[in-house]
Amino acid sequence: MQFSQRVYCGQLTPEDVGRQVLLAGWVDAYRDHGGLLFVHLRDRSGIVQIVFNPATTAEDVCRQAAGLRAEYCVAVRGEVCPRLAGTENPHIETGTIEVMVAELTVLAESEPTPFAVSEKAMIAGAATAGSDPVAEDLRLQFRYLDLRRPSMRDHLVRRHRIFQCVREFLDAQGFVEVETPMLTMSTPEGARDYLVPSRVHAGSFYALPQSPQLFKQLLMVGGLERYFQLARCFRDEDLRPNRQPEFTQLDLEASFIDEEFIYALIEELTARMFAVGGIALARPFARMTWTEAMETTGSDRPDLRFGLRFVDVTDLFVNTNYSIFKQILQRGGCIKGINIQGQSEKLSKNVLQNEYAKEIAPSFGAKGMTWMRVEGGRFESNIVQYFSPAELDGLRQRFGVADGDVLIMVADPSYSVVVSALGQLRLHLAHRLGLVPADRFCPVWITEFPLFEPTEDGGVTSSHHPFTAPDRTDFDPANIEDLLSLRSRSYDLVVNGEELGGGSIRISDRDVQRKIFAALGLGEEETREKFGFFLRAFDFGAPPHGGLALGMDRTVSMILQTPSIREVIAFPKNRSAACPLTGAPSVVAREQLAELGLLDLGGRDLLPGDAQKDDPIDRLSWVSRIGFAADERPMLEAVRAQAETLADLAAERAGTEDPIFTVAPVANRLRPGTEARPSPLAENGRLLQSAPAVKGDYFKVATILE
Ligand code: AMO
Repeated sequence: MQFSQRVYCGQLTPEDVGRQVLLAGWVDAYRDHGGLLFVHLRDRSGIVQIVFNPATTAEDVCRQAAGLRAEYCVAVRGEVCPRLAGTENPHIETGTIEVMVAELTVLAESEPTPFAVSEKAMIAGAATAGSDPVAEDLRLQFRYLDLRRPSMRDHLVRRHRIFQCVREFLDAQGFVEVETPMLTMSTPEGARDYLVPSRVHAGSFYALPQSPQLFKQLLMVGGLERYFQLARCFRDEDLRPNRQPEFTQLDLEASFIDEEFIYALIEELTARMFAVGGIALARPFARMTWTEAMETTGSDRPDLRFGLRFVDVTDLFVNTNYSIFKQILQRGGCIKGINIQGQSEKLSKNVLQNEYAKEIAPSFGAKGMTWMRVEGGRFESNIVQYFSPAELDGLRQRFGVADGDVLIMVADPSYSVVVSALGQLRLHLAHRLGLVPADRFCPVWITEFPLFEPTEDGGVTSSHHPFTAPDRTDFDPANIEDLLSLRSRSYDLVVNGEELGGGSIRISDRDVQRKIFAALGLGEEETREKFGFFLRAFDFGAPPHGGLALGMDRTVSMILQTPSIREVIAFPKNRSAACPLTGAPSVVAREQLAELGLLDLGGRDLLPGDAQKDDPIDRLSWVSRIGFAADERPMLEAVRAQAETLADLAAERAGTEDPIFTVAPVANRLRPGTEARPSPLAENGRLLQSAPAVKGDYFKVATILE
């Protein structure tokens, strides 16, 4: 077989009619018409129909073809022919032609596959076997078969195109691709680290990077000026549909720049990436401060594909007689609402009261929800009678109501309850009422985030990471109120309610960085221990710099409009952070743990108290994994003392006489009050079943027990 002559199935066109071709690929589907065999042959480029016709194909080839089954890997030679009128197949791009086979080579047979790989029907209008949804874990377990499906292959090819687009664009802008370490120190991105034990430095660990944050900043101190990387990041956090424990970021950083540089660069880049998927993004992207986003949508990643913006009506009710609003306002609360225009037909009294007010709003954290429908110029609601004409007029004007509109309002003493519950109601209603256009893309920069968030113990924590520059540097690190009033020079890129990326202008002044650590309650020593190497770099002329990271799995998934980011990752983890294909994460042999010095790590914590950690009996208890009661200690102490004497004796005899294998006379010792009885596991031979390694009648133990 001369594979150098091979042509791709999907690239054949009617212009190839009459050409002799060599094709290679997999049997996608086959159909036997009484000896006349039609096969869909699939390779990376697409599918073409090949035909084994007893009238023109040699008998032995036809006989061999009769044994073809789905997913056999084959090569064929034959002539490209036009299909007969009426037999064209619109499901495949080569549907007007077919290849009449002269030679067939079966390169590899296939067992019946656990699910149908084929996605293309052989006959116009027919459904394919592969159109049935397959359980995701089964797809992931046999991912190599799943990847043969044209849709999955298409995702990976288009992901590659988008990555290429990134590389070309950033290269043209003077950015240099640099790889930063995978085995490193912890990076503070707010998730848990994946740790890697070091064999050479037993008891010490590397952390897999949550992001290349520290290194990219060090590259700026290193004078690289413009860096990027398509970087793998690792975060041990609660999984959500748009999160993976291991994911890819487009990470970049630049020196001597400000926010406008990042906005211009990323808008151009994002527009180019979306264009690869045939989506035109309108520019410039919208911008919204964090406060505005929270005030009008209740979210720091607002979905702007539809209206339903919040309207604040607190001031309309300062003198109200409606007791619920009155009490809430007396407690310093607020009232916000949404006008759902022209939807009163879909939102009946029953739906509003029994579903939304009683069930849905409380499930979003609101204690209640007020609703009003507008009919014939009048408000209609179960509580409208409690409002004064002036209050109703105020609502009419503030919301600009018309007949058919529905108002919903949430009031609560807590601002965050109001915006959070109303924000979730906004999304729920938009989806329920079909107000979210699937083909619209609304990018927005969210800016001016609070630099800090309050913690439960009365301190503060960074909203982003501690290297983000504050909007002013004259703050007092000990004054919590002052700290909570700080805004950051950070920015998130949000599209359709999804955070695609985020970044900031960094702190390049070492004193400001120290003040931020002090505000976070990190003492000098802790700071030095965690970030000493990093802070030291700022003692040597660090340039002003900033950057951003785009989640590439999320970005590609949005461009390709897939239901989950797992669809655009070749070998993703499933919903419980496991890999059904390899079985990772998996248990490892005790030998491996021992080699890494992990067997006795943390074991001392199991001991009763710190003062006792050097007690030989406690240590024996931990090493043997047997708990000892207090009244057993004298006996154990005696045995230990005897062992010590014998050990000394053995040491004295060492080298003088025959070697001894044990220092203590061998005898079974039983706990007081127990009697010897053979284990049923020994009798049925299962005693060593769970031992990590067995040799003959013995099992190996970790070095520490030898
Ligand atoms: P951040 O933590 O916001 O910033 O991450 C940047 C982007 O990475 C994506 N992302 C994820 N994608 C898939 N699975 C995950 N578990 C996951 N976590 C995050 C998101 C997010 O917007 N070092 C900073 C960037 C900077 O300041 O330059 C950082 O990592 O799309």
